[in-house]
Amino acid sequence: MSGGIAAYKSVSLARLLTQAGAQVDVVLTRAALEFVGAITFEAVTGRQALAEIFEPGHALDHIRLAREADVVVVAPATADLMARAAHGHADDLLTASLLATSSTVLFVPAMNDHMWAHPQTVRNVAHLRELGYKVLDPDDGPLAVGEGSGPGRMPEPETIFAHVGRILEADSTLRGRRIIVTTGATREPVDPVRFLSNHSTGKMGAAVAAAAWRRGADVTLIAGHTDVDLPAGPRVIRADTTAAMAAAVSEEIRSADALVMAAAPADFTVKDASATKLKREGGASALDLVETADILKAVSAGRKRGSVIVGFALETGDATTRGAEKLRAKNLDMIVVNDQTEAGAGFGGDTNRVTLLTRDGKREDLPLMLKTELAEQLLDRIGAMLNGS
Ligand SMILES: Cc1cc2nc3c(=O)[nH]c(=O)nc-3n(C[C@H](O)[C@H](O)[C@H](O)COP(=O)(O)O)c2cc1C
Repeated sequence: MSGGIAAYKSVSLARLLTQAGAQVDVVLTRAALEFVGAITFEAVTGRQALAEIFEPGHALDHIRLAREADVVVVAPATADLMARAAHGHADDLLTASLLATSSTVLFVPAMNDHMWAHPQTVRNVAHLRELGYKVLDPDDGPLAVGEGSGPGRMPEPETIFAHVGRILEADSTLRGRRIIVTTGATREPVDPVRFLSNHSTGKMGAAVAAAAWRRGADVTLIAGHTDVDLPAGPRVIRADTTAAMAAAVSEEIRSADALVMAAAPADFTVKDASATKLKREGGASALDLVETADILKAVSAGRKRGSVIVGFALETGDATTRGAEKLRAKNLDMIVVNDQTEAGAGFGGDTNRVTLLTRDGKREDLPLMLKTELAEQLLDRIGAMLNGS
C-alpha cells in the first residue's frame, strides 16, 4: 500500500483475501502509515504488517516477501509510488520488494483526477504496462471531499479481489476464450407498470460468469432481472425482455466459443401490452399470450463451428426425461437439469442438485452443492469440450 486517501478500502481488500484463504502480507510505505495503522492490518490478516526496510531482525524481508508472493497487489498505488516503480527505485520496503519479485504485480491507482491525467502519470503508467506490470484503470466517481467526481477513484475491494482471482486462477483451457452467459429472469410487459416474469434470481449465471472470468475467459454476461450483484469483470449487457435477450444472444453468439444459458427467459409475452395502466374499475380481462422469440433458434443460426452450447432445464418432476428431450430438440452439447421440487435445487437458493446430460449420451448425477461450486464443475467440462477431450 502506498499513501493515498483510498487506503481505508485496502482494509476490506486484505480481509476479503484473508477470508478466501490467502496468506496476506501487508507492506506499507511511510506515507501509507499516515492513513491506516499497521495494527489494523495485523488484526485483519493475522500476520505482521511491515513498513520499514531498515529494521533489526528484518534485514531480508524484501527478498523473502518478493520470493514468497504468488501475486503482489499495490492498492492504493499513488502517483508517487508508480513514478518510483516505473523508474526502478528501491528506496523503501515496498519498492525494493517490487524490484526483487518475479511474481505478477497488479497496480491499483487511486488519486485526484488531475494527478491521474498529468502527462507524467500517464507516461509512468504506460511505462509500467510496457514493463509487463498490470495496471487497473481507476473508476470514474466521487473523489476526496470537495474534489468532485472524475477518473481517479480506486476500484472497490470486490473488484480488486476479482482481478487477483483472475491472476491466480487463469486456466489454460479457458484463457482468452469468448464465453457468453445469460442469467436472470426476463420481464414481459402487461402494461407500463406490470409484467409477467418468474422467480429466477440470476445467481447461477452470475456464478458461472464470475468463475469463467477468473479463469481468464473473455466473458459477456447477458442479464435479465437479477436479485444479486453482478460480478466485477465480465462485460454486462442488460436484456429486459426475452426479445431483447434473443437479440443480444444472436449478436454475441457469432464470436462465442461457448454459451451458457442459465437465464430464465419468459416463454410467453402479452400479445398487445396496454400502453396505459389497466384499471381495476375496468374489471378483470383475459391476457392474450403469445410465445416469445426462440433464443435457441438465434443460437443455431449464428454459432461458430466447434463452439459449446450449454442449456439449463428447470422442471417440476420427471426432469431428466424432459431434459434429454430438450437436449436433442435444441441441439445442445450439454444440458444441466434441475428439479424445482427437490430440496436445495432450482431457483432462489445458493445450492443446486443437477444432472448433466451430454450430446454423446452420457449422464452424470452431481451431488447437492453450492451454485458457485457447480459453476466450477460446469467450466471444467466446458474447458475439456473446447479442447477436444
Ligand atoms: C490527505 C492526503 C491525501 C492524499 N491522497 C493521495 C491519493 O489519493 N493519491 C496519491 O497519489 N497521492 C495522494 N496523496 C499524496 C501522497 O500521500 C504523497 O505523494 C506521498 O509522498 C506518497 O508516498 P508513497 O507513494 O510513498 O506512499 C495524498 C496526500 C494527502 C496529505
